[in-house]
Order: sequence, then C-alpha cells, then structure tokens
Amino acid sequence: MAKIINEFIPLAKPNILDKDIDLVVDVLKSGMLVQGKYVNELEKTFTELTKAKYASALSNGTATLHLALKTLNIGIGDEVIVPAFSYVATANVVELVGAKPIFVDIDLKTFNIDITKIEEAITSKTKAIIPVHEFGLACDMDAIMLIAKKHHLFVIEDAACALGALYKGKHVGGFGDFGSFSLHPRKAISSGEGGVLITNSEVYDKKIKILRNHGTEIINGKMDFSEFGFNYRMTDFQAALVYSQMDRLQNSIEYKNELALIYHQNLNQLKLQLPSIPDFTKHTWQTYHVVLHDSIDRDLIIDKLREHKVGVNYGAQCIPYMKVYKEKYNHDCKTLYPNALRAYKKGLALPIYDLVTKEQVEYITNTLNNLIQ
Ligand SMILES: Cc1ncc(COP(=O)(O)O)c(C=O)c1O
Repeated sequence: MAKIINEFIPLAKPNILDKDIDLVVDVLKSGMLVQGKYVNELEKTFTELTKAKYASALSNGTATLHLALKTLNIGIGDEVIVPAFSYVATANVVELVGAKPIFVDIDLKTFNIDITKIEEAITSKTKAIIPVHEFGLACDMDAIMLIAKKHHLFVIEDAACALGALYKGKHVGGFGDFGSFSLHPRKAISSGEGGVLITNSEVYDKKIKILRNHGTEIINGKMDFSEFGFNYRMTDFQAALVYSQMDRLQNSIEYKNELALIYHQNLNQLKLQLPSIPDFTKHTWQTYHVVLHDSIDRDLIIDKLREHKVGVNYGAQCIPYMKVYKEKYNHDCKTLYPNALRAYKKGLALPIYDLVTKEQVEYITNTLNNLIQ
C-alpha cells in the first residue's frame, strides 16, 4: 500500500523552472513586450518540431481554430464536422464564424471521432472536418484525409492537447490544412494563455499573420488594413515562457508515458475502462482519462477522491449536451452520441504531469480502486 499522502495532489500543475522565469524577466526588461524576438523563436521551434513549413503564435488555442476557419472563408450556410466529445471550444469556433457544427460520435476506446461515422454526416454544405487528437492521442489521420480528399473538404486538426504526438512517426497537425495547438496551463508546456497554428501553405500563413494583427498589411511599402482582422497577437514574455520549456517537452512526454503505465497496470479494469493506445501513435498523455462502470456514481467518486486529497475532474464535454447547444439544436444525445455522452457522464481525468510523482500515482490508483470496489 502506498504511503499516506499529506499534500493535495492537483489535477494539473505547470512545471515552471527558474530559467523560464529569468527569460520572462529579460523580456520584461527589454521593453519589447508584444510579438518580438521570442514569438519568432517560438514559431521557429514549432516548425522544427512539427516539420510544418509555417507557424503563427496567437493569443490562445481558440483563436488558432477561429483564424483557421476565417482563413478558409468558412461561414454562414456552411457545415463543419466536429467530434461530439471535446472541449467546447472546438464547436464554439464554428458557431463564431456563423457555420453549423455537425456532431459525430466518438470511439470510446480512443475518445477520438469515430471515423466510420464521418461520411454519413457529410452533406452538400459540409466544408471541413475538425478532428481532435483528444487527450494527446492522434486520430487515424490516413482515414480522415482519405474521406476529406474524396469529398473535397478542408481539415483543421485540433491538436490543442497533442503537442509532441505522432501518427505513424509524423507529428500531428501537419496532415490537414491547419494544425492548432493550445499552450494553456493544462497542456504539456504553457505560456499561460497561448496557441500556435501551423500550416504548409504560404498563402494561408500570410493571411493568418494579417488577421492576427488587426488586418494589417504592408502594401507598396505603406501600412494598410486589408482584412477585418483581430487582435490575436501573443505577448513576447508569454512566448519566452513557453520557448524556454520547449527543450524538456520530450522528457515530459516520456515521463508521462511511464505514469500512464502505472495507471494501466494498477487500476481495476473490471470497474474502469482504461484508455487504449493504437500502435500507430505516440501518446502525449495530456490527460489520463478513464470511464467508470455504469453502476458507479462518477460525481461521488470525484468528491471522495478530493476528500482523499486527489484533484480529479471531468475530462471533456459531450458538446451537444451542453446548455447552449441543447437550446439551439435539441439533439437527442442518448441516441445520436451515446459514446460521447457516456465519456462525459462517466469520464474521470486523473493527475498526470511532470510534478506528480510515481509514488503519488500509486497512491491515486490504490485510493480509486478502494473507492470503486
Ligand atoms: C480540444 C481543445 N480544443 C481547443 C481548446 C482551446 O484552447 P485554449 O484554451 O488555449 O483557447 C482546448 C483547450 O483546452 C482543447 O482542449
């Protein structure tokens, strides 16, 4: 039995080192606070890591998805396919541009969009698919790209949780027209708020960089405004904060794979469905997400685990089941999206990050097993 843990174990905690703070302080002292040297450096490291040709640092992951849709001119009258289980931002951005999110159920083994159900959701109005590499596990991109090609659809990969994830040896985000990453504190490395959008298209990249900066474009040597743009710029001290963490991303992923193995080996698989890993992918384990047996009251388990000093929470949402989507579309989620609804109602995210120790994970697994026996 693992030792009694005295301190509360939060669900997530960013690992910020003194060297990261020092770099932020350097930027603060430099006087160049917005979109300076470290935004450029960060973009360069993203192209090196993902092998995409272009990268743009933006103010958050939602902004990256929004600008991808704007750049593709997706809007009123268009439909965009999204998984029914994800963070709400994936569908909110579709609403934000005036298009309609078309939800597709997920595969409960991977928590990713069910590729066998995508084609039946495609209509003459469908313009794009937003596959989400949920919790850091790559979708089956070969299958998705095949469907997209067949139906002439754009693909925007929502890789918010998947920095460092590979599909058949290639970094996610570079398969579709765009790859979108979040740098929120629950991600492997964080700038506080922040996001990066990658693409292999020079034309798209140019438009993204115009749109993120109020539509500013230099035309004939003069500053002009060629688009109705946004202020989605990243500050340079945020860029420095995350740039400084890039060199330990791979170690962090390796460590989280070791923690995931402990969860796998210790948790009671009769009462919990554990996440599975297809062999074509390298998982980043942004979240270790289990699904409780039907007989178990998930919310009670959350309370009990917190009483035992373990921070846990829901993993993601069944988006069409959320109030605003229910009011607008009134989808019968139980019939249409049974897996997404189950993952939402019975799902549990467990602590997995650099600062949680293996001993703590042993304690968490023992505590959870005892609570559900
Ligand atoms: C799948 C997914 N998409 C989009 C986002 C939005 O990212 P951000 O919080 O940086 O705006 C998140 C954030 O958690 C996410 O998990």
